[in-house]
Amino acid sequence: MDRRRFYLAAIYGLNAVIGAAMAIPAALYLLVPPKTKKGTAWVEATDLGQLQPNAPQEVVFRRNRVDGWKVVSEKTTAWVVKKSDTEAFALAPGCTHLGCAYHWEAAKNSFVCPCHTSLFSIDGKVLEGPAPRPLDRFETKLSGTKLLIGPVKVQDKKA
Ligand code: FES
Repeated sequence: MDRRRFYLAAIYGLNAVIGAAMAIPAALYLLVPPKTKKGTAWVEATDLGQLQPNAPQEVVFRRNRVDGWKVVSEKTTAWVVKKSDTEAFALAPGCTHLGCAYHWEAAKNSFVCPCHTSLFSIDGKVLEGPAPRPLDRFETKLSGTKLLIGPVKVQDKKA
């Protein structure tokens, strides 16, 4: 092999290496799907034995949120309503109008949103105000007396 052919082979070889170094990450980005929310784990939020029936209680818990390829641990809240020792549901903490944090007012027997005064019943139905749909609920399941919280189920207008 003469010098000219050797340099040409070296240049083509380097071009192939540089091309692969750029193409492989681009192909992985395009072809490998990001992590989805399907893997959202159930999180223990509270013990039903500590709650009173029909007295909504705001509980705070930590959960991992998958954001593309990144997993973020974040603190979140839910309003838990215990119906009996074997039945409870958890409401997402944001008003369905513009997302303000609402609270329970025992005197009105309702959830009240302070931003535009929407009123919700204990099961999250809209009673008054501009909220377009009932409060969203977390999926829940019981493990003994522990209430486990999963992803949020968005309510439709008829719920
Ligand atoms: Fe709750 Fe507007 S954000 S009523």
